[in-house]
Amino acid sequence: MCGIVAAAAASNIVPVLIEGLKKLEYRGYDSAGLAVIAGENIRRIRSVGRVAELASAAADVSAVTGIAHTRWATHGVPSERNAHPHVSGSIAVVHNGIIENYAELRAELTAHGYQFTSDTDTESIAHLIAAKLNVDADLLTAVRLACQRLVGAYAIAVIDWRQPGKVVVAREGSPLLLGVAADGNYAASDASALLQVTRDVIYLENGDIAELTPQGVRISLFDGTLVERPIHVSELSPAAIELGAYRHYMQKEIFEQPAALANTLEIVGGGKTIQPGIFGAEAGQLLADVDHILILACGTSSHSGLVARYWLEAIAGVPCTVEVASEYRYRTSVPNPRQLVVAISQSGETADTLAALRHAKALGQDKTLAICNVPESAIVRECALRFITRAGPEIGVASTKAFTTQLAALFLLTLVMAKLRQRLSGEQESAFIEQLRHLPVAVNKILELELAIEIWAKRFASKQHALFLGRGRHYPIAMEGALKLKEISYIHAEAYPAGELKHGPLALVDRDMPVISVAPNDALLDKLKSNLEVVQARGGELYVFADADSEIPESTGVHILRLPEHYGALSPILHIVPLQLLSYHVALVKGTDVDKPRNLAKSVTVE
Ligand code: F6R
Repeated sequence: MCGIVAAAAASNIVPVLIEGLKKLEYRGYDSAGLAVIAGENIRRIRSVGRVAELASAAADVSAVTGIAHTRWATHGVPSERNAHPHVSGSIAVVHNGIIENYAELRAELTAHGYQFTSDTDTESIAHLIAAKLNVDADLLTAVRLACQRLVGAYAIAVIDWRQPGKVVVAREGSPLLLGVAADGNYAASDASALLQVTRDVIYLENGDIAELTPQGVRISLFDGTLVERPIHVSELSPAAIELGAYRHYMQKEIFEQPAALANTLEIVGGGKTIQPGIFGAEAGQLLADVDHILILACGTSSHSGLVARYWLEAIAGVPCTVEVASEYRYRTSVPNPRQLVVAISQSGETADTLAALRHAKALGQDKTLAICNVPESAIVRECALRFITRAGPEIGVASTKAFTTQLAALFLLTLVMAKLRQRLSGEQESAFIEQLRHLPVAVNKILELELAIEIWAKRFASKQHALFLGRGRHYPIAMEGALKLKEISYIHAEAYPAGELKHGPLALVDRDMPVISVAPNDALLDKLKSNLEVVQARGGELYVFADADSEIPESTGVHILRLPEHYGALSPILHIVPLQLLSYHVALVKGTDVDKPRNLAKSVTVE
């Protein structure tokens, strides 16, 4: 998604803007641009493609006030004319989000003589602010008046060459934070862009507008009331967002999973029992009364919810539904005030998940829990309970370590719910906790399979399609494996519960359709084996990720890779790792942009 960096400082801020944009590259973008105040003018540079190209084009620019942007196209194709900043009169604006009433604004502003030169919704913000400057010459007031007309989700940053030394920013629905430093003040879409200048950050709330000068920041609401927001010291370490010795962030993040799991599970401590308090001080009371769990999430995060459904129903005996957030938010559903609504999100800013959570609350369901990797995110702030996964920053667009840490968090939720419902003996509890503690070691052993997986990947790279099969709690793992393959290698991949194959998809099976199967040694193994035989009998090529003791023999058309360890209920957390490695290596062979796959963005803050 789009990224914003803005600065008002005492010295040249162009290198800060460029470095900030580089740090936001992971969010996904197709063009970039910046605008600075240059005497009685706005100097604007925009380019399609990488930030590095913008940096070369801006090499001779120096200024103390400016805004910069990476654009992920929503309205209008990726092109220089659609790239931000957009200029109107003396002002320039960058924007993240979507303005829903832009067509109405565009018609109105065109009627008043404003000429549009792009296809974006953002340009209507620029002209609207310019029009409001005719009503009140103060930039802050003009932006405030403009915001009162905007419908949608947005974060914006604005400069005006007539009011040098000042940036005005506003937030409604899209993330934006301020960075406070001795030599100037800054704004950005996330803290990683500002670590180069400061760790002191202020998270803006929805409906906040702020004026940044080199001397300070002034925050007010859209109605003009001044507000104070606390300064947080960002704990993000520069090393956590460096690539180090790895080729790609995705590879780094796959290999960080043992540490990410260990950090996430640190909350359990060294004991043999866990308490509801790990989800928040109120958790014991709030969860005791829960009779159903509704999980809301998108993409990979929804797959972790689907695995959890098997755990929650089998171990805790609590009924559970998992809904894709973009569907739930617009569906007429039957509310249940005793239902726990769990929002799962790596970023905590996904527009659909946030809207679904708000929709659930508006229906009177206020027992809410966020499982999230970003402590200060909107989703965390809007839930009664929270569990912060400690995966560290996830930069690669394809989610990996966020997924496995979400699974660990959801397993803890299962144990807490099972305890509260008297479904877990002390012995079972301590055995599960032991298995959780062993996860980092078990994942490490699976990572050692990388070389063998690389060999498989070479055979896949020429394929156009692939089928992923799983059963039970490993069906969502097959879904996640298929999603990983399609998003970074662009191979069309579908996942099916293995038992469903004969009801249609079997027609697709031939020599050119590799079938990847997750085959743990569990109660469904024999059923799965029969499903696989059906594939083999139709000439299909099977690639099976089995457990060391899953009795599936290698034969013509059946390739087996055995995972060294498996942990019963926790097996999905292990079985996803080879599938992540497989898609990573297929993408490497195909030469795709692994960390920034085409058309995708990391944090999907628009609908
Ligand atoms: C896939 C992927 C996406 C995200 C989805 C939700 O690899 O990363 O499917 O899982 O966009 O994002 P979060 O978890 O930030 O809400």
